[in-house]
Amino acid sequence: MPYRAGRHFLQIPGPTNVPGRVLRAMSRPTIDHRGPEFQALGHEVLQGLREVFNTTHPVVIFPASGSGAWEAALVNCLSPGDRVLMSDSGQFATLWKQMAVGLGLEVDWIPGDWHHGVDPEAVSARLADDRAHAIKAVCVVHNETSTGIVSRIPELRQAIDQAGHPALFMVDSISSLGSIDYRHDEWSVDVTIGASQKGLMLPPGLSFNAISDKARAAHRQASIPRSFWDWTAMLAANEQGLFPYTPSTNLLYGLQEALAMLREEGLSNVFARHQRHAEATREAVRAWGLEMVAASPDDYSASITAVVLPKGHDADDLRRLLLDRFDLSLGVGLGRLAGTVFRIGHLGDLNDLSVLGTLAGVEMGLTLAGIPHNGHGVEAAMRALVAPVG
Ligand SMILES: Cc1ncc(COP(=O)(O)O)c(C=O)c1O
Repeated sequence: MPYRAGRHFLQIPGPTNVPGRVLRAMSRPTIDHRGPEFQALGHEVLQGLREVFNTTHPVVIFPASGSGAWEAALVNCLSPGDRVLMSDSGQFATLWKQMAVGLGLEVDWIPGDWHHGVDPEAVSARLADDRAHAIKAVCVVHNETSTGIVSRIPELRQAIDQAGHPALFMVDSISSLGSIDYRHDEWSVDVTIGASQKGLMLPPGLSFNAISDKARAAHRQASIPRSFWDWTAMLAANEQGLFPYTPSTNLLYGLQEALAMLREEGLSNVFARHQRHAEATREAVRAWGLEMVAASPDDYSASITAVVLPKGHDADDLRRLLLDRFDLSLGVGLGRLAGTVFRIGHLGDLNDLSVLGTLAGVEMGLTLAGIPHNGHGVEAAMRALVAPVG
């Protein structure tokens, strides 16, 4: 591909733009991962991650994409044939379910329409029916990257408690961590799954499990075969700031820098920034007269907006046009939303003008593709962005 002047607009819902500070941090020479300099780095990032997950409990780091941390959560806590309760909230929930089935688990699957978050009442009802406590874990995707819909974790926690059920609570925070408020301890989550390439502003390649005491106790009984993902070996090495195998040293340099940046901005400011950008994006979509996948404001994600095109128009044609004409990448429609939906990622390292540039690209693309819309989306977003915060 010949050189294209100007910045590429990577507005897919992850991987997100990696800031220069993180890229420069990662360019430092790799060091001995068993030496004292590494140990200091290990201690610092393992401790720093706890702040992002809002936990005082251990967070482990795998040199893997998010799917690795999904698998680690399941194999460390469960035994073959165990039942898990999952909900059809979108494509990532579906993929996690497929993984659970592949690992020999029995999945109780709550149906969903992909337009709403996970229903706490449905979870509570399924758990109340399970008098023998055969269900060993409730697994939920906090922010469905395929639909731009957020599920309300505190209400789901309450639903589990109301049913008086002892199942573990596992939450995928892959596209919410570092962009939407998340509280592992306060919400009594047992295993939180995270990954590097979204709100943490890093390249793909690191993923995380935050682990409660209850999950550690379950881990001691769990018998799905595991080796690479084993928490025991990982937690023992982490005590010394080390890893049981070769870690992704340079990604950890990046993580150290990203954690410093999140701390400098302040997590509450990071969350507020994401909310402002999400609302500005939604204002643009409303002004265009297009539909969002999220059915109601309660479901809106602060990190992703999934937009439905009018019937007869192909979202992938629009995406191709935007890449060719404006060097703008938007997220593809996934699973049952393929071809009818495009996704705008507004998470990670971005400011007001990056959001407006993205929306300007989309608006011009809609016009060029002959997709009926009302125009004025960028104007509506600008109005939202200059409105007093309050
Ligand atoms: C919510 C969610 N869960 C899981 C995954 C899978 O992660 P990965 O593709 O990094 O393996 C993704 C990827 O985008 C995701 O958004």
